[in-house]
Amino acid sequence: MPILLATDFDVAEQRLWRELLQTELPDERFVTDRQTVDDATIDIAIVANPPRGALSGLANLRLIQSLWAGVDRLLGDPSVPPQVAIARMVDPAMNVAMAETALWAVLSLHRGYYTYAAQQRARHWQSLPQRRADEIAVAVLGLGQMGRTVALRLADQGYRVSGWSTRPAEPARIDACTGDDALLPLLARADIVVNLLPLTPATRGLLCTRIFDAMPQGASLVNLARGAHVVDADLLAALDRGHLRHAVLDVFATEPLPADHRYWLHPNVTVLPHAAAQTDARSAATVAAANVRRLRAGESPQNQVDRVRGY
Ligand code: GLV
Repeated sequence: MPILLATDFDVAEQRLWRELLQTELPDERFVTDRQTVDDATIDIAIVANPPRGALSGLANLRLIQSLWAGVDRLLGDPSVPPQVAIARMVDPAMNVAMAETALWAVLSLHRGYYTYAAQQRARHWQSLPQRRADEIAVAVLGLGQMGRTVALRLADQGYRVSGWSTRPAEPARIDACTGDDALLPLLARADIVVNLLPLTPATRGLLCTRIFDAMPQGASLVNLARGAHVVDADLLAALDRGHLRHAVLDVFATEPLPADHRYWLHPNVTVLPHAAAQTDARSAATVAAANVRRLRAGESPQNQVDRVRGY
């Protein structure tokens, strides 16, 4: 039965994925155009940010393998058949990329890079007090595969790392806490907050004035998860009144970030184009192919999304 590839990839990217998947799964047939096959024959869809409605009416679909780690958009598409298993992309290479971005952002904040960059533009020569990594408290929100990898990488670098998750996380070599009551006290001690939560109804808009006020004066936010976690007006207000020092933002409620958005030119905001951890086709094709083989062998796919939980 054919496997549908439903993505927002450009032609070159689509060709690359198709070749890699075909090499992994030589006996499978991949299609990108539903017009070329009978819908009833499609039982697997491999998707990356598919347009809304791309999977509607596939009566015999059994697996949707996402090439993205976050599946909030898929779960928000009412035309995605409700009974079909959805698997997230869990790829160690992507976790490593995310840890590198988080480390870069935390190091930049810790070592005053953003202040020095502004000083350079103003031809202003002034050194800042130098702090040791173990004097910087980093709170990592979200302790899934990515959050844990990030937290451990930062801890290895000497930062004082604590983690928070909405439900108890697998143990890791860091202090971890769970639940609403633990969040504000954790934030009150954080110099830098790194967000890696999944976007669910419970976490949408979580990063708002209540949270920013709980963070100490001069703390910074690094958002590498989803734009909709942040109430933008609240973040801008916290930055404008100098309560928060800086925000490193990789993700936005609307992407690409609209040209007239205040984030672009805000002196205390660093904008990245949703590039913190891109899916690496070389490793992720192997991960996706393994799930296809599992399904064909009658086994249940790995990394299945719990639709009620939302990730
Ligand atoms: C990227 O944001 C992803 O979810 O993989």
